[in-house]
Amino acid sequence: MSLQGKVAVVTGANRGIGRATAERLIAEGAQVLAVDLSVEEIGHLPLHRLAVDLASHDGPARVASEARRLGPVHCLVNNAGIGAAKSLADSDDELIDRVIGTNLRAVLRLTRDMLPLLGPDASIVNVSSVFGETGYPTSTAYAVTKAGISQMTRQLVADLSAGGVRVNAVAPGVIRTAMTEARLNGDEAYRKAMIGGTPLARIGTAAQVASVIAFLCSDDAAFVNGQVIAVDGGWLASRTRP
Ligand SMILES: NC(=O)c1ccc[n+]([C@@H]2O[C@H](COP(=O)([O-])OP(=O)(O)OC[C@H]3O[C@@H](n4cnc5c(N)ncnc54)[C@H](O)[C@@H]3O)[C@@H](O)[C@H]2O)c1
Repeated sequence: MSLQGKVAVVTGANRGIGRATAERLIAEGAQVLAVDLSVEEIGHLPLHRLAVDLASHDGPARVASEARRLGPVHCLVNNAGIGAAKSLADSDDELIDRVIGTNLRAVLRLTRDMLPLLGPDASIVNVSSVFGETGYPTSTAYAVTKAGISQMTRQLVADLSAGGVRVNAVAPGVIRTAMTEARLNGDEAYRKAMIGGTPLARIGTAAQVASVIAFLCSDDAAFVNGQVIAVDGGWLASRTRP
């Protein structure tokens, strides 16, 4: 799975799935540009860093401008995202705008701005969610943005394949990160529901998602295109899908 010398851009890389992905891509030999609101927690890693708010007006363009200095980009990992465990009835305008602005609009804008920088056989990997693939109580705005990310993945295949660019996504199930930690630790009913809903009966790790992202970035996945790959311990397979 060597990514020796190849340039990868990973958003949301300061912690969680993004950080595990940056670490894995570095281990595979990639030069990583790590993007996040803050990049302090990854100060020790051998990578390029950019602190930026991707949801801001000029955020995506700033990432593209920094990436341009590194040469052709082989892999773009659109991982940064925020959760919102609220029913639609409890979601005010500010929450809806923030979730859509971060999880969907910023991803569309960054991907567009990165297109001219993608090298031959480049790969885009989007981080969706099982909640974007099947219904689940609460988190409505969040689930809608993730469904959008899954559809963006398929849509871009139609647009980009002729140029040799592959586009795939991962759909993580419940993964222990800062996004889920407080609820997993503090809400026993939630923790039981998450483990109970996962056929493997455990919570996943960021590294388990990162290894699939690294595979999709690499030429080992050279004929994998337009897929949303669940990394969920069987969560989706055990539910009825349309
Ligand atoms: N943890 C899970 O169970 C789970 C499940 C399914 C999908 N996901 C998805 O995985 C991705 C990573 O989540 P995680 O669990 O590692 O969460 P996390 O909160 O640990 O990490 C997300 C990172 O994204 C960054 N980020 C958020 N908004 C940003 C912005 N506007 N600009 C730049 N950076 C920003 C955060 O600062 C943070 O470092 C997200 O897209 C999330 O929706 C997570």
